[in-house]
Amino acid sequence: MTRPKPTKVIYDTDPGVDDAMALYFALAHPAIELVGITTTFGNVSVEQAATNALYLLELAGRQVPVTLGVAVPWVKPSEAPPAHIHGADGLGNLGARRPVSQQLDPRASAQFIVDMARAHPGEITLVAVGPLGNLSLALQLEPKLPVLLREVILMGGTVSEPGNVSPVAEANIWNDPHAADRVFTAGWKLAMVGLDVTHRVVVTLEQFRRIAAKHQHPATDTLLTAVDFYARFYSGLYQHIASTPGCFAHDLLAFIYLVQPDLFQVETKGVRVATDGLAQGQTIMNRRDFIQYPHPGWEKDKPRTQVCMEVDAPGCIALFEETMLGNWLTA
Ligand code: BDR
Ligand code: CA
Repeated sequence: MTRPKPTKVIYDTDPGVDDAMALYFALAHPAIELVGITTTFGNVSVEQAATNALYLLELAGRQVPVTLGVAVPWVKPSEAPPAHIHGADGLGNLGARRPVSQQLDPRASAQFIVDMARAHPGEITLVAVGPLGNLSLALQLEPKLPVLLREVILMGGTVSEPGNVSPVAEANIWNDPHAADRVFTAGWKLAMVGLDVTHRVVVTLEQFRRIAAKHQHPATDTLLTAVDFYARFYSGLYQHIASTPGCFAHDLLAFIYLVQPDLFQVETKGVRVATDGLAQGQTIMNRRDFIQYPHPGWEKDKPRTQVCMEVDAPGCIALFEETMLGNWLTA
């Protein structure tokens, strides 16, 4: 039997420790063909994000185009990156690094997304796991982007689960709420993988140790070092993580949704983002879409999002480990 062709993916990212584990999952999974990495500010500056993407590829022995993207939010002022969560370098303070041979692609992230979507109409899935400025800018450059891309899957937002940067806001959406609202109203096939599901899936340090022990490779050793740092943050916050050290799998779940959507339960509803005030960054899902509300913004013809509300956590954890233990790294 012939395998179905792998899905072409552009990974829009701000590496970031969970971004790094998601990248390695994408490189390891046979159903994913990574055709570009577009970077953004978020967990680190955009320059550091691009440096980290190139470094992670170098360690894994892979060549994928990497671009530099937006450095600041669309409207609101920038904030300092969360060095206490991901480390000052975004990868858990790795210290000395080996040299990297690959150079950046000279295009801006938004232009790269547009060029690739035009070159492969209907074929590319965009997996976005940072603030959404690159996508918002790409939409401005090419208004037909929603039909040129196959699908957008984003890690961000939350509906019922409390936020992680305010009582209602998730970090990626908080970091650029104006860009996010454009993305939720653009009219593409869009899935939201937010805290409602990512806070249900904890990957343990022990799993990363097993993966590193199997491969004995700089890529998985480095991932273990980075996750060790990241896990300390989560262990300090949550009792159930402190007892079995690990971390939420956030960005990884966007790729798991891509390869195995049946592990998730979704609701298809309109989503808007609060851009100002106390609720800034909140993703508001219109649960009662049979009501025609009298205020603008919730019209019945507004685009809908497939919002992940439930997840088979053991299924995700098993798929992650099984994939990462496969033979995806060359010596
Ligand atoms: C999201 O914020 C970032 O810190 C993580 O990389 C993830 O994309 C989780 O809220
Ligand atoms: Ca991220």
